[in-house]
Amino acid sequence: MDGPGRDPTTFPPYYHEAYRSTVRRAPRQPLISVPHTLSEITGPGPALSAMGAQDSDLTTNMGTGGEAIGERIIVTGRVLDDHAMPESGALIEIWQANAAGRYRHRVDDHRAPLDPHFLGYGRCTTNNDGVYRFITIRPGAYPWQNHPNAWRPAHIHFSVFGPSWVSRLITQMYFPGDPLLPLDPIFNSVPTDAARARLIATYAHDVTQEGYALGFRFDVILRGPNATPFEPFATTHHARR
Ligand SMILES: [Fe+2]
Repeated sequence: MDGPGRDPTTFPPYYHEAYRSTVRRAPRQPLISVPHTLSEITGPGPALSAMGAQDSDLTTNMGTGGEAIGERIIVTGRVLDDHAMPESGALIEIWQANAAGRYRHRVDDHRAPLDPHFLGYGRCTTNNDGVYRFITIRPGAYPWQNHPNAWRPAHIHFSVFGPSWVSRLITQMYFPGDPLLPLDPIFNSVPTDAARARLIATYAHDVTQEGYALGFRFDVILRGPNATPFEPFATTHHARR
C-alpha cells in the first residue's frame, strides 16, 4: 500500500518485492494520521548553532588532521519547492561509504578497509538561494545481502530537514553512468525512468575546481510533478543499504 499523497509515478512503493527489506516492513494495515503536536511541528533548530563550515567538508571533518583517501568531489545543488522557489535554511545531512565501500558503522562487516581520516557524515544548511555544497570523496560500491552477488551502486544518502521534525525527507544520490544502476532494486523501486533520472547527479564542469576536485550537481525538489523521489520510510543512519 502507498501513503496518502505519494505520487505513484515518482515515489517508490512501500512494498517492492525485489528489495527484500520492504517485504518485511511494508505496512499491512491502512495508514492512520497522527495529529501533530509540538514535538512534530518544531524542528532541529538548536542543533544548527553548533554547526561550522568544517562540517560540510567530509575530506577533513574527521578532525584527525589528515585527509580522506579517494577521488575528491564537490557535490552542490539547490533545494527547491514545486514552483522552483529556493528553500533557504534547510538542514542537509549526508552520509556515505568510504572510497573502499565501507561505512564507519558497527554493523558494517564488509571486508574493506576503514579510512582513518574519513567519518562519512557531513551537514550544512542551504543559503538564501537554496544552495548547499559539500566536499567529499566518491564513495565505493559495496555488497549487500539482498540477493546473490548484490552490489549497491555508488551513492550518497541525503536527509533534508525543513523547519519541523515531520518535514524530514530522505533519499539517495547516484552517479551518472554507473553500470550497477540497472541491477539495483532500491534504485529500481522508483517507478519511472523520469523519476529515477532525478536521483542521478550530473557532472558539472563549472563546479569542478582545477587541480582539486570534480563537480557534481544534484537538486532536491521537495514536491510537485518533478519531485525528487524520497524513500517511503524514515530510515536512520544504518549501514549497508
Ligand atoms: Fe548506503
